[in-house]
Amino acid sequence: MGFTVDTSTGADKQELYAGLVRQLGGLLAGERDPWANTANTAALLYALLPNLNWAGFYFLRGGELVVGPFQGMPACVRIAMGRGVCGTAAAERRSLVVPDVHAFADHITCDTASESELVVPISSGGRLIGVIDLDSPLPARFDEVDAAGLGQVAAMIAAGCDWQLAGIDTF
Ligand code: SME
Repeated sequence: MGFTVDTSTGADKQELYAGLVRQLGGLLAGERDPWANTANTAALLYALLPNLNWAGFYFLRGGELVVGPFQGMPACVRIAMGRGVCGTAAAERRSLVVPDVHAFADHITCDTASESELVVPISSGGRLIGVIDLDSPLPARFDEVDAAGLGQVAAMIAAGCDWQLAGIDTF
């Protein structure tokens, strides 16, 4: 059965995220496989959110973050906890809005096109599973509305998958 992404939604940012959450609910319904669900979520994020050059997941595996399903250019595979924007958000378990990646001392460059970044942790039952990472070629592309919207996506993904199926640590 096909899934049609409705890209017409989103006159403003709040509406855009409301549409994204609605479509994500449809995608996740009836499927609990982490790789299937996160691959489709990466595709949905990349299709719906404007001005991105990367959208995807890093998961905690063997004590470090390992790249998961994504859309965009090939990316750094492993990121130590506490390093880069992703490792910092994971270690501190908080969302990070980085308006200028060049001003973030420990930023890890995967695609030189990236100018700004948003990373949101994914947790389930108080345990860290990984992060969602969005990169943009525009400076200051992300704000608190994006962080809240992506936080909702992270919560839906956390609740919508059986993580033990995927060999992902929780922390
Ligand atoms: N910039 C990230 C690395 C991941 S890529 O952007 C896909 C970081 O500093 O953690």
